[in-house]
Amino acid sequence: MGKVISLVNPKGGSGKSTLTLCLAEVFEKSMIVDFDPQACLWSWYQERTLNNRDQDDHFMEVEFYGLEELSIERLDALSQLNDFVFIDCPGESEAGEKTRTALVYSDLVIIPVHGSDFDITSLLNHLAPLLEDAAASNIKGGKIMFLPVFVNPLARIDRVVSRFEGLGIEVMQGAFKTRQVLKVFPEQGRTLSEFIESGKLARDRIQAREAMSNVLQIAQQVMIHSRRQ
Ligand SMILES: Nc1ncnc2c1ncn2[C@@H]1O[C@H](COP(=O)(O)OP(=O)(O)OP(=O)(O)O)[C@@H](O)[C@H]1O
Ligand SMILES: [Mg+2]
Repeated sequence: MGKVISLVNPKGGSGKSTLTLCLAEVFEKSMIVDFDPQACLWSWYQERTLNNRDQDDHFMEVEFYGLEELSIERLDALSQLNDFVFIDCPGESEAGEKTRTALVYSDLVIIPVHGSDFDITSLLNHLAPLLEDAAASNIKGGKIMFLPVFVNPLARIDRVVSRFEGLGIEVMQGAFKTRQVLKVFPEQGRTLSEFIESGKLARDRIQAREAMSNVLQIAQQVMIHSRRQ
């Protein structure tokens, strides 16, 4: 049975969709549940399919789900077919019930938090309702973890991580670093590894390789923390 990993943060623009796309690609049998009505990952996938970009049977799939369509039975069925099912949750006003559904069914909940978010009180106030819900409702005994995002590529990860310690939520020993190519590759309808192969500028390809090595570190953390305790 595969693991269900949710990326949640009601704060919009915290890197949920970008990180979902990067992570799903590095596992051999994985898929994305796009749970956001804006459907950016689903549109990305549709565009690829229309252009016959996904010839490879093993390529990850992206499916779009509304709130009523994503039941525990459906998620169980998806996790029978995949090693990892990533749920990309919506931000802002759409977050409520969908985030709650993801929290209930997940083996691991990743909350991307801005690496330069010094205002820890505001961060916790923002997340408090979500965290209370999560503690009470998760039926899989899954972990809930912070992952620092938008971190300066030169920053020392241990220092960044230490700022998020002691808040009552475990912190992943990793960080999703800021790289311009992470904005560019989805806009081109590519995955990060496709961008590494085909990016026009050598400078971009190098940056994309660095981003991939960062994603692989986070993927390793995902494997460790989604194991049944
Ligand atoms: N590591 C990164 N480096 C550079 N740009 C990034 C990175 N992560 C995300 N971005 C950019 O930041 C913006 C917000 O990212 P993204 O859409 O992934 O956030 P989100 O949490 O899914 O937002 P929403 O809540 O609206 O769904 C996008 O323009 C994206 O390209
Ligand atoms: Mg998103």
